[in-house]
Amino acid sequence: MINNKYYIETYGCQMNVYDSELVANQLKNIGYIETKNLETADIIFLNTCSIREKAEETVHNKLNNLEYLKKKNPNMIIGVLGCMAQNLKNDLLESKPFVDVILGPDSYRKIPEIIRNRKQNLNHVVDTKLSKYEVYNDMFPSRKEGINAWISIMRGCDKFCTFCIVPFTRGRERSRPIESIKKEVEDAVKNGFIEVSLLGQNVNSYLTPEGDFTYLLEELAQINGVKRIRYTSPHPKDMTDDLLYVMKKYDNICNYIHLPLQSGSDKILKRMNRTYNSNEFLKLVQKIKAILPNCSLSTDVIVGFPGESEKDFNDTLEVMKIVEFDFAYMFKYSSRPGTKASQFSDQIEEELKQERLLKLIDLQKKTTLNNNMKLIGSIQDIIIEKKSKKSNKYWSGRTEGNIWTIIKDSGQKIKDQVAVEITGAEGVTLFGKNINFEES
Ligand code: SAH
Ligand code: SF4
Ligand code: F3S
Repeated sequence: MINNKYYIETYGCQMNVYDSELVANQLKNIGYIETKNLETADIIFLNTCSIREKAEETVHNKLNNLEYLKKKNPNMIIGVLGCMAQNLKNDLLESKPFVDVILGPDSYRKIPEIIRNRKQNLNHVVDTKLSKYEVYNDMFPSRKEGINAWISIMRGCDKFCTFCIVPFTRGRERSRPIESIKKEVEDAVKNGFIEVSLLGQNVNSYLTPEGDFTYLLEELAQINGVKRIRYTSPHPKDMTDDLLYVMKKYDNICNYIHLPLQSGSDKILKRMNRTYNSNEFLKLVQKIKAILPNCSLSTDVIVGFPGESEKDFNDTLEVMKIVEFDFAYMFKYSSRPGTKASQFSDQIEEELKQERLLKLIDLQKKTTLNNNMKLIGSIQDIIIEKKSKKSNKYWSGRTEGNIWTIIKDSGQKIKDQVAVEITGAEGVTLFGKNINFEES
């Protein structure tokens, strides 16, 4: 029997990575196998992102490149999934008529049926209805090999930050029942994964009748074989003391928090509808550092939000200097049609955004290196993940704080959890040597 083949390319956040795994599993269930070669694919799905204009441009370019394949093989199914499908369906239908299938993030259940019906029905299939309930509770992902399993625990976002498209593309917040998450974690462990990363746009607003995010974390931390638990992204407003104490109580919950700041200016935070001011954010950081002394912190920052003055930008630099994040994802504000901020009249010029971004990156580079230098001489717990990119005589693994660390290969294996003395720091990477290594 000749197997039909699918090809999926994923853009955007980890939630899309997880969703692509769900889609892949459904295709496997109906007899498809994966191909990495576009030319031989019967189905090509692009799972897309709308967070910034650039993300959408990349997909448009990719789609333009796919048109010739469709001409060569008219039976091929080309599909756009995810946030752009949700956001730009009419646009896509008009400008990319060779796209057969357009499915928003709550419509993936329909995929087997759509593919089965395809032979009879050659019309476009468009489904972008958002659901208040869909959490894909009974659908499981087909994971790529590795040490970390992504697990989506809630979907959607109700926060409506004024710059952000996510509440429109992903719909309302809803949480997946604890039992189903537990089962997925147990299955992941059975299949050899030792780290789980819990995902949600506001992962810590997770709430079900059985319990909240803290309760869920505590339940998962007790599952045998789970060596590390991470989660992303929490909203600063929903970081409770209980959550920090549960992180402290369990060794396998990583001492690492990705805490998106977005801006250090109170005026801008207000206009962003972030629901905290810089002082509250700084107090939260102080509390985290008091309860979890070695906790690593990373963040997201936007520069050039409408109305951001030189003073506002300097306030951001100031907060960054006080907190000394270990790592930061930094973005130029990108206006998203349909969001509130896109209607603000005081948009910032591209050059100024670029100038501010470079200044911020420069500061953060120094902070990251400085923080990493302070780790020299310390002993870090590393889980070996893969061969180092530079040489296969070296391994790469992450610290609890999510910093990539390179050590010499002296017989360790992937998934070994080893004690490493940090000997150097360069860029965003640490170097170290494995102490007391005995083969496990
Ligand atoms: N739910 C997460 C963020 C998800 S989007 C949170 O609230 O932290 C990831 C990051 O993309 C955001 O934290 C923000 O920094 C950035 N982002 C979102 N919309 C953006 C826009 N319109 N322009 C530039 N960056 C944006
Ligand atoms: Fe977007 Fe704000 Fe929701 Fe994060 S919390 S997904 S930034 S609206
Ligand atoms: Fe992008 Fe959608 Fe994720 S807009 S960042 S793929 S939720």
